[in-house]
Amino acid sequence: MSEIILKTQNLSRHFGALMAVDDVTLSFERGLVHAVLGPNGAGKTTLINLLSGEIPPSSGSIHFKDQNITGLPANQISQLGIGRSFQKTNIFPIFTCFENCRLAAQSRMKGSFRFFRSARSYKQINALAEKGLEMCGLANRRDTIAQAMSYGEQRQLEIGMMLSTEPELLLLDEPLAGMGAEESLKVIELLKRLAKDHTLILIEHDMDAVFAVADRLAVMVNGRLLETGTVGEVRASKAVQEAYLGSDEEGH
Ligand SMILES: Nc1ncnc2c1ncn2[C@@H]1O[C@H](COP(=O)(O)OP(=O)(O)OP(=O)(O)O)[C@@H](O)[C@H]1O
Ligand SMILES: [Mg+2]
Repeated sequence: MSEIILKTQNLSRHFGALMAVDDVTLSFERGLVHAVLGPNGAGKTTLINLLSGEIPPSSGSIHFKDQNITGLPANQISQLGIGRSFQKTNIFPIFTCFENCRLAAQSRMKGSFRFFRSARSYKQINALAEKGLEMCGLANRRDTIAQAMSYGEQRQLEIGMMLSTEPELLLLDEPLAGMGAEESLKVIELLKRLAKDHTLILIEHDMDAVFAVADRLAVMVNGRLLETGTVGEVRASKAVQEAYLGSDEEGH
């Protein structure tokens, strides 16, 4: 039996009159790569922001491993094991790669370690930072100032920072955005490696990348969930063809 690691029930978020996420009920299976697709403004980033606690929902609920996490703040959700990367790069540009990862690791520790910064916790944080760097493929850039690196490496570092918080579930908002072909391939390989022992929820416009890594697709349009399923199922869906992939199929 497959296990559901994260689940939304009738999840909605409006901004004024705009329903950015509209009544979305969606389950994510542990260990799989889930891609969320949809045109610009479909509500994909808002959905990720709700799952990571960046913003609270207007209504509906979110459960992570049987725990109701609806309305919890982002730092608490991170501490429970949900990591996220941002659509726009979110690194500290004047710090080294190692320092960036250490700050991320520290943020996960906050709360439990705030009142006793023991040598042990300091060591643990350093070890988490080293591990994050290693996993994202930037161990050789450990002491490089982040802003001195290419845009692609900065995005890679952002994934390293997320990994330094030791998440079980990764929320990735367009990890390939703005990357060249070579950099993209590198990150796709990284995502494949991460997929072996994490659950991934990935927003990505690059369809080649999505088809290379995703086990399940969810398609959003105008805040609503249009279709979910395997790549084959979603490709075969009439609703998706009409609403989203429609223009591709015309004239055939
Ligand atoms: N903080 C906000 N205040 C007001 N409106 C917002 C806010 N955040 C998002 N929106 C609106 O909600 C809708 C969904 O936006 P969202 O960023 O979730 O889309 P998206 O699917 O991620 O699009 P893209 O592919 O362009 O990144 C859009 O119409 C957007 O303008
Ligand atoms: Mg977005």
